[in-house]
Amino acid sequence: MNIGLIGGGGREHALCAKIIESRFCKNIFCFPGNAGTSKIAKNIDVNILNFNQLLRYLKFYKIDLVVIGPEEPLVKGLVNFLKKNRIRVFGPDKYASKLEGSKAFMKKLCKDNNIPTAKFKVCTHLRQVEDFLKSGNLPTVVKADGLAAGKGVTVCNTKKQVIKISKEIFRGKFKSSRKIVLEEFLQGEEASYFIIADKNSYRFFGSAQDHKRVKENDKGPNTGGMGAYSPAPIINKKIEKKIINKIVKPTLNALKIRKNPYRGFLYIGLMINKGEPYLIEYNIRMGDPECQVILPRLKSDLVEIILNTTKDKLSKCKIEWKTTKSMTIVLCSKGYPGTYIKSRPIKNLESINLKKNEIIYHAGTKIDKNKIISTGGRVLNITSLGKNFLLIRKNIIRLIKKINWNYGFYRKDIGWRVIKKNENY
Ligand code: AMP
Ligand code: GLY
Repeated sequence: MNIGLIGGGGREHALCAKIIESRFCKNIFCFPGNAGTSKIAKNIDVNILNFNQLLRYLKFYKIDLVVIGPEEPLVKGLVNFLKKNRIRVFGPDKYASKLEGSKAFMKKLCKDNNIPTAKFKVCTHLRQVEDFLKSGNLPTVVKADGLAAGKGVTVCNTKKQVIKISKEIFRGKFKSSRKIVLEEFLQGEEASYFIIADKNSYRFFGSAQDHKRVKENDKGPNTGGMGAYSPAPIINKKIEKKIINKIVKPTLNALKIRKNPYRGFLYIGLMINKGEPYLIEYNIRMGDPECQVILPRLKSDLVEIILNTTKDKLSKCKIEWKTTKSMTIVLCSKGYPGTYIKSRPIKNLESINLKKNEIIYHAGTKIDKNKIISTGGRVLNITSLGKNFLLIRKNIIRLIKKINWNYGFYRKDIGWRVIKKNENY
């Protein structure tokens, strides 16, 4: 079949590489893709939020199945739009996408269904913020309600800071919403748990730990993610059972009762404290860079799984995983997550010899006059598989040193939690 993949980051390069392996895939088209996908698929340069234009291309290329990578088109209703136009599509619809698109919606769903999460208050006026501060402890987490490209969350250590950030959001700092969610600060260790779901069932789809802060030792501002590894050893069988019973099942049931069953990947962002999982956030898609460590571990046919999910026949599929571990380190442009250097050629990428267990996924890159140039803040995801996280990381850093590009930086401490706890892990 002809498959259309929406998005152009590292996550989409990883999805594209896996889709190509499928016995169901005849051709794959990336909208818009990046330099990495251009080597293995056909890139179509299009604004993915212009649904009508996108539809024209999908029809022109006779696309049989659309897979959506990023959250924005999902939250804006691309699934509803394509279904209305009789195109088979994988991903949650507009209503279910509110799990990520509106933090107020997600928190209310948690409250109504006793899902463990941080105590919170939805505020639309400063007076409500001041009231919360009277009873709430510091630090307090201030969150913009709508999508904010990873920039909507601030952990505040003073009441003054809470007021300042709240005022900025009320004044319209983020176009998506002027509402805020105030939350108590959760202690513990963060981990991500993934499932794939259709109307009738769900399946485990990997676990990972990301590194959100830009600097080593988890310092500096938040980013989209500086590196990840899979699996997340903190999620043992006992914790997994709690995640499923206290978080996954009540959420899927709540949406089913509202006649909007969840279909697609669901990213469950967790804080684990003393053996108890608390939901921090839902993302209605695979993580980036988590996808880049989860998919290389998947043994089964991804398109078969996705296709069955769109037909509500997920329970028919076998989903098998490799026992090997994986890690990715994100090579960023200097300046990221602030203003970063752009349009710099990466000269020798294609001459680097990669072994079977080594992959370089492209994120913010494009082809310009036959050269690979950097376009985004997160540029490349250097990924490797193996038996031991310490050795995997050493191998990734060895590969990064081979890349002839002087405009980047990366964290050398990805995986510090697992590597520190147990050198042999
Ligand atoms: P979110 O977009 O909700 O995932 O928040 C981004 C990041 O902020 C999370 O990955 C956490 O590191 C942090 N964070 C969000 N909410 C909380 C909370 N209630 N307690 C502690 N950290 C939080
Ligand atoms: N890596 C975090 C995310 O995809 O939201």
